[in-house]
Amino acid sequence: MTSLTDVDLLRELEPVAAANIDRHLSLATEWMPHEYVPWGLGRDFESLPWEPEQSVLSDVAQIAFEVNLLTEDNLPSYHREIATAYGRDGAWGTWVGQWTAEEGRHSIAMRDYLLVTRGVDPVALERGRMRQMKLGYDSGSKSPLQVIAYVTLQELATRISHRNTGRFTEEPVAEKLLARIAADENLHMIFYRNLVIAALELDPNRTVLAIRDEVLNFDMPGTGILDFKAKARRIADAGIYNLRVHHDEVVAPVLRNWKFFALEGLNAEAEQARAEVAAFLEGLDALATHQDERRAARAARAAQTAEASTAALAAQA
Ligand SMILES: [Fe+2]
Ligand SMILES: [Fe+2]
Repeated sequence: MTSLTDVDLLRELEPVAAANIDRHLSLATEWMPHEYVPWGLGRDFESLPWEPEQSVLSDVAQIAFEVNLLTEDNLPSYHREIATAYGRDGAWGTWVGQWTAEEGRHSIAMRDYLLVTRGVDPVALERGRMRQMKLGYDSGSKSPLQVIAYVTLQELATRISHRNTGRFTEEPVAEKLLARIAADENLHMIFYRNLVIAALELDPNRTVLAIRDEVLNFDMPGTGILDFKAKARRIADAGIYNLRVHHDEVVAPVLRNWKFFALEGLNAEAEQARAEVAAFLEGLDALATHQDERRAARAARAAQTAEASTAALAAQA
Protein backbone atom coordinates (compact mmCIF):
# COMPACT_ATOMS: atom_id res chain seq x y z
CA MET A 1 0.00 0.00 0.00
CA THR A 2 1.35 3.44 -0.90
CA SER A 3 1.47 6.12 1.76
CA LEU A 4 -1.07 8.93 1.59
CA THR A 5 0.04 12.54 1.85
CA ASP A 6 -1.12 14.48 4.92
CA VAL A 7 -3.64 16.37 2.81
CA ASP A 8 -5.07 13.14 1.32
CA LEU A 9 -5.22 11.61 4.72
CA LEU A 10 -7.13 14.49 6.28
CA ARG A 11 -9.57 14.42 3.38
CA GLU A 12 -10.04 10.67 3.72
CA LEU A 13 -10.52 10.95 7.45
CA GLU A 14 -12.97 13.84 7.25
CA PRO A 15 -16.13 11.66 7.08
CA VAL A 16 -14.83 9.74 10.09
CA ALA A 17 -14.32 13.04 11.90
CA ALA A 18 -17.87 14.07 10.94
CA ALA A 19 -19.37 10.79 12.20
CA ASN A 20 -17.42 11.08 15.43
CA ILE A 21 -18.55 14.67 15.96
CA ASP A 22 -22.13 13.40 15.74
CA ARG A 23 -21.29 10.64 18.19
CA HIS A 24 -19.61 13.14 20.48
CA LEU A 25 -22.53 15.59 20.37
CA SER A 26 -25.02 12.82 21.17
CA LEU A 27 -23.05 11.97 24.33
CA ALA A 28 -21.68 15.33 25.49
CA THR A 29 -24.29 16.73 27.85
CA GLU A 30 -24.32 20.46 28.47
CA TRP A 31 -23.04 21.44 31.90
CA MET A 32 -22.71 24.74 33.68
CA PRO A 33 -19.38 25.61 35.28
CA HIS A 34 -21.10 28.00 37.73
CA GLU A 35 -23.09 25.10 39.20
CA TYR A 36 -19.90 23.42 40.35
CA VAL A 37 -18.58 26.34 42.39
CA PRO A 38 -19.62 26.96 46.03
CA TRP A 39 -20.06 30.72 45.57
CA GLY A 40 -21.47 31.15 49.10
CA LEU A 41 -17.96 30.58 50.51
CA GLY A 42 -16.60 33.60 48.63
CA ARG A 43 -15.01 36.53 50.50
CA ASP A 44 -13.21 39.44 48.94
CA PHE A 45 -9.46 39.28 49.18
CA GLU A 46 -9.01 42.89 50.23
CA SER A 47 -10.86 42.47 53.51
CA LEU A 48 -9.62 38.93 54.06
CA PRO A 49 -6.21 38.33 52.44
CA TRP A 50 -5.26 34.78 51.49
CA GLU A 51 -3.48 32.69 54.13
CA PRO A 52 -2.23 29.14 53.53
CA GLU A 53 -4.31 27.70 56.38
CA GLN A 54 -7.54 28.78 54.64
CA SER A 55 -7.11 25.98 52.12
CA VAL A 56 -8.83 22.70 52.97
CA LEU A 57 -6.68 20.95 50.35
CA SER A 58 -3.55 19.06 51.35
CA ASP A 59 -0.20 20.26 50.03
CA VAL A 60 -0.11 17.64 47.31
CA ALA A 61 -3.74 18.17 46.32
CA GLN A 62 -2.95 21.88 45.90
CA ILE A 63 0.05 21.08 43.72
CA ALA A 64 -1.90 18.64 41.53
CA PHE A 65 -4.87 20.99 41.19
CA GLU A 66 -2.58 23.89 40.28
CA VAL A 67 -0.62 21.86 37.73
CA ASN A 68 -3.86 20.63 36.13
CA LEU A 69 -5.27 24.14 35.97
CA LEU A 70 -2.11 25.72 34.53
CA THR A 71 -2.09 22.96 31.94
CA GLU A 72 -5.69 23.79 31.00
CA ASP A 73 -4.80 27.49 30.94
CA ASN A 74 -2.62 27.05 27.89
CA LEU A 75 -5.65 26.40 25.69
CA PRO A 76 -4.82 29.16 23.18
CA SER A 77 -1.61 27.29 22.34
CA TYR A 78 -3.41 23.96 22.03
CA HIS A 79 -6.05 25.57 19.84
CA ARG A 80 -3.31 26.87 17.58
CA GLU A 81 -1.70 23.44 17.39
CA ILE A 82 -4.94 21.63 16.58
CA ALA A 83 -6.15 24.29 14.14
CA THR A 84 -2.78 24.23 12.38
CA ALA A 85 -2.84 20.45 12.05
CA TYR A 86 -6.46 20.11 10.93
CA GLY A 87 -7.47 23.46 9.49
CA ARG A 88 -10.68 25.37 10.00
CA ASP A 89 -12.77 23.89 7.22
CA GLY A 90 -15.41 21.20 7.13
CA ALA A 91 -15.75 18.62 9.88
CA TRP A 92 -12.21 19.27 11.11
CA GLY A 93 -12.99 22.94 11.64
CA THR A 94 -16.24 22.07 13.41
CA TRP A 95 -14.34 19.79 15.77
CA VAL A 96 -11.64 22.37 16.48
CA GLY A 97 -14.38 24.83 17.51
CA GLN A 98 -16.37 22.34 19.59
CA TRP A 99 -13.31 20.97 21.34
CA THR A 100 -11.90 24.43 22.09
CA ALA A 101 -15.21 25.64 23.55
CA GLU A 102 -15.46 22.58 25.80
CA GLU A 103 -11.87 22.89 26.95
CA GLY A 104 -12.39 26.56 27.79
CA ARG A 105 -14.93 25.56 30.42
CA HIS A 106 -12.33 23.55 32.32
CA SER A 107 -10.04 26.35 33.38
CA ILE A 108 -13.00 28.67 34.06
CA ALA A 109 -14.59 26.23 36.51
CA MET A 110 -11.32 25.18 38.16
CA ARG A 111 -10.10 28.71 38.72
CA ASP A 112 -13.47 29.85 40.09
CA TYR A 113 -13.49 26.90 42.48
CA LEU A 114 -9.95 27.57 43.72
CA LEU A 115 -10.52 31.29 44.20
CA VAL A 116 -13.86 30.99 45.97
CA THR A 117 -12.65 28.21 48.28
CA ARG A 118 -9.18 29.77 48.74
CA GLY A 119 -7.73 26.41 47.78
CA VAL A 120 -4.39 27.80 46.56
CA ASP A 121 -2.43 31.05 46.76
CA PRO A 122 -4.23 33.30 44.23
CA VAL A 123 -1.15 35.43 43.56
CA ALA A 124 1.07 32.43 42.83
CA LEU A 125 -1.71 31.01 40.67
CA GLU A 126 -2.00 34.17 38.58
CA ARG A 127 1.76 34.48 38.21
CA GLY A 128 1.85 30.83 37.18
CA ARG A 129 -0.84 31.45 34.57
CA MET A 130 1.03 34.46 33.15
CA ARG A 131 4.26 32.51 32.96
CA GLN A 132 2.60 29.48 31.44
CA MET A 133 0.70 31.38 28.77
CA LYS A 134 3.64 33.61 27.84
CA LEU A 135 5.78 30.52 27.36
CA GLY A 136 2.98 28.94 25.34
CA TYR A 137 3.09 25.39 24.13
CA ASP A 138 4.68 24.15 20.97
CA SER A 139 4.68 20.44 20.17
CA GLY A 140 7.16 20.91 17.32
CA SER A 141 6.24 20.00 13.80
CA LYS A 142 4.05 16.96 14.25
CA SER A 143 2.25 15.43 11.28
CA PRO A 144 -1.57 15.16 11.54
CA LEU A 145 -1.12 11.45 12.34
CA GLN A 146 1.30 12.20 15.13
CA VAL A 147 -1.10 14.81 16.46
CA ILE A 148 -4.05 12.38 16.70
CA ALA A 149 -1.84 9.74 18.31
CA TYR A 150 -0.48 12.30 20.79
CA VAL A 151 -3.82 13.84 21.73
CA THR A 152 -5.38 10.41 22.30
CA LEU A 153 -2.74 9.73 24.93
CA GLN A 154 -2.81 13.26 26.26
CA GLU A 155 -6.61 13.46 26.68
CA LEU A 156 -6.60 10.13 28.51
CA ALA A 157 -3.68 11.20 30.70
CA THR A 158 -5.54 14.42 31.51
CA ARG A 159 -8.71 12.51 32.29
CA ILE A 160 -6.91 10.25 34.76
CA SER A 161 -5.00 13.14 36.26
CA HIS A 162 -8.17 15.20 36.90
CA ARG A 163 -10.05 12.21 38.27
CA ASN A 164 -7.27 11.17 40.62
CA THR A 165 -6.65 14.75 41.74
CA GLY A 166 -10.37 15.04 42.55
CA ARG A 167 -10.30 11.87 44.65
CA PHE A 168 -7.13 12.99 46.35
CA THR A 169 -8.65 16.32 47.47
CA GLU A 170 -11.06 14.39 49.71
CA GLU A 171 -13.34 17.38 49.20
CA PRO A 172 -16.70 16.41 47.66
CA VAL A 173 -17.23 19.63 45.69
CA ALA A 174 -13.77 19.49 44.11
CA GLU A 175 -14.18 15.80 43.44
CA LYS A 176 -17.48 16.36 41.65
CA LEU A 177 -16.04 19.18 39.56
CA LEU A 178 -12.93 17.27 38.54
CA ALA A 179 -14.96 14.14 37.77
CA ARG A 180 -17.17 16.25 35.51
CA ILE A 181 -14.13 17.62 33.68
CA ALA A 182 -12.62 14.13 33.46
CA ALA A 183 -15.80 12.96 31.70
CA ASP A 184 -15.25 15.65 29.03
CA GLU A 185 -11.64 14.54 28.59
CA ASN A 186 -12.79 10.97 28.15
CA LEU A 187 -15.07 11.92 25.27
CA HIS A 188 -12.25 13.91 23.69
CA MET A 189 -9.98 10.90 24.00
CA ILE A 190 -12.56 8.63 22.34
CA PHE A 191 -12.92 11.06 19.40
CA TYR A 192 -9.19 10.98 18.71
CA ARG A 193 -8.83 7.29 19.48
CA ASN A 194 -11.46 6.47 16.87
CA LEU A 195 -9.67 8.60 14.30
CA VAL A 196 -6.48 6.66 14.93
CA ILE A 197 -8.42 3.42 14.32
CA ALA A 198 -9.60 4.81 10.98
CA ALA A 199 -6.06 5.96 10.16
CA LEU A 200 -4.75 2.48 10.94
CA GLU A 201 -7.12 1.15 8.30
CA LEU A 202 -6.24 3.83 5.74
CA ASP A 203 -2.48 3.86 6.14
CA PRO A 204 -1.42 1.28 8.73
CA ASN A 205 2.33 1.59 8.20
CA ARG A 206 2.57 5.32 8.62
CA THR A 207 0.07 5.32 11.48
CA VAL A 208 2.15 2.73 13.35
CA LEU A 209 5.21 4.98 12.94
CA ALA A 210 3.24 7.95 14.29
CA ILE A 211 2.05 5.91 17.28
CA ARG A 212 5.63 4.80 17.96
CA ASP A 213 6.84 8.41 17.86
CA GLU A 214 4.20 9.60 20.30
CA VAL A 215 4.31 6.68 22.73
CA LEU A 216 8.09 6.88 23.01
CA ASN A 217 8.31 10.63 23.32
CA PHE A 218 5.21 11.39 25.34
CA ASP A 219 5.37 14.44 27.56
CA MET A 220 2.53 16.25 29.27
CA PRO A 221 2.13 19.81 28.00
CA GLY A 222 2.64 21.25 31.50
CA THR A 223 6.40 20.82 31.57
CA GLY A 224 6.94 24.62 31.40
CA ILE A 225 5.29 25.13 34.82
CA LEU A 226 7.64 26.58 37.47
CA ASP A 227 9.33 23.75 39.41
CA PHE A 228 7.50 21.22 37.26
CA LYS A 229 9.91 18.39 38.04
CA ALA A 230 9.55 18.75 41.79
CA LYS A 231 5.78 19.08 41.47
CA ALA A 232 5.52 16.08 39.16
CA ARG A 233 7.46 14.08 41.71
CA ARG A 234 5.06 14.98 44.52
CA ILE A 235 2.16 14.07 42.23
CA ALA A 236 3.85 10.78 41.37
CA ASP A 237 4.60 9.94 45.00
CA ALA A 238 0.96 10.51 45.90
CA GLY A 239 -0.05 8.06 43.17
CA ILE A 240 -2.09 10.71 41.32
CA TYR A 241 -0.02 10.35 38.16
CA ASN A 242 3.12 8.28 37.93
CA LEU A 243 4.75 5.73 35.67
CA ARG A 244 2.48 2.93 36.87
CA VAL A 245 -0.59 5.00 36.09
CA HIS A 246 0.87 6.04 32.74
CA HIS A 247 1.63 2.45 31.77
CA ASP A 248 -1.48 0.71 33.14
CA GLU A 249 -4.16 3.32 32.62
CA VAL A 250 -3.00 5.30 29.61
CA VAL A 251 -0.56 3.68 27.19
CA ALA A 252 -1.46 -0.02 27.54
CA PRO A 253 -5.27 0.36 27.27
CA VAL A 254 -4.99 2.70 24.27
CA LEU A 255 -2.69 0.28 22.42
CA ARG A 256 -5.08 -2.55 23.27
CA ASN A 257 -8.01 -0.58 21.91
CA TRP A 258 -6.07 0.00 18.67
CA LYS A 259 -5.22 -3.75 18.54
CA PHE A 260 -1.75 -2.42 17.94
CA PHE A 261 0.08 -5.69 18.53
CA ALA A 262 -2.38 -7.70 16.43
CA LEU A 263 -2.08 -5.62 13.24
CA GLU A 264 -1.14 -7.70 10.25
CA GLY A 265 0.57 -7.01 6.93
CA LEU A 266 2.87 -4.22 8.12
CA ASN A 267 6.02 -3.39 6.17
CA ALA A 268 9.49 -3.87 7.67
CA GLU A 269 9.78 -0.30 8.95
CA ALA A 270 6.43 -0.47 10.73
CA GLU A 271 7.28 -3.89 12.19
CA GLN A 272 10.49 -2.40 13.52
CA ALA A 273 8.55 0.54 15.01
CA ARG A 274 6.13 -1.87 16.67
CA ALA A 275 9.04 -3.80 18.19
CA GLU A 276 10.34 -0.49 19.58
CA VAL A 277 6.95 0.15 21.20
CA ALA A 278 6.95 -3.34 22.74
CA ALA A 279 10.44 -2.80 24.16
CA PHE A 280 9.47 0.63 25.41
CA LEU A 281 6.41 -0.74 27.21
CA GLU A 282 8.50 -3.39 28.91
CA GLY A 283 10.99 -0.77 30.02
CA LEU A 284 8.21 1.52 31.24
CA ASP A 285 6.68 -1.32 33.23
CA ALA A 286 10.02 -2.11 34.85
CA LEU A 287 10.65 1.55 35.66
CA ALA A 288 7.15 1.84 37.12
CA THR A 289 7.82 -1.14 39.39
CA HIS A 290 11.11 0.40 40.44
CA GLN A 291 9.40 3.73 41.15
CA ASP A 292 6.74 1.97 43.25
CA GLU A 293 9.38 0.07 45.22
CA ARG A 294 11.38 3.20 45.92
CA ARG A 295 8.25 4.97 47.09
CA ALA A 296 7.29 2.07 49.36
CA ALA A 297 10.82 2.02 50.82
CA ARG A 298 10.67 5.77 51.47
CA ALA A 299 7.27 5.40 53.15
CA ALA A 300 8.57 2.53 55.31
CA ARG A 301 11.59 4.61 56.37
CA ALA A 302 9.36 7.56 57.23
CA ALA A 303 7.06 5.30 59.28
CA GLN A 304 10.09 3.87 61.11
CA THR A 305 11.41 7.33 61.92
CA ALA A 306 7.98 8.38 63.18
CA GLU A 307 7.75 5.25 65.32
CA ALA A 308 11.24 5.84 66.73
CA SER A 309 10.46 9.41 67.69
CA THR A 310 7.16 8.38 69.31
CA ALA A 311 9.04 5.74 71.30
CA ALA A 312 11.71 8.30 72.31
CA LEU A 313 9.01 10.73 73.47
CA ALA A 314 7.28 7.96 75.45
CA ALA A 315 10.59 7.04 77.12
CA GLN A 316 11.11 10.68 78.16
CA ALA A 317 7.62 10.98 79.65
FE1 LIG B 1 -9.41 20.01 29.57
FE1 LIG C 1 -9.80 17.46 26.61
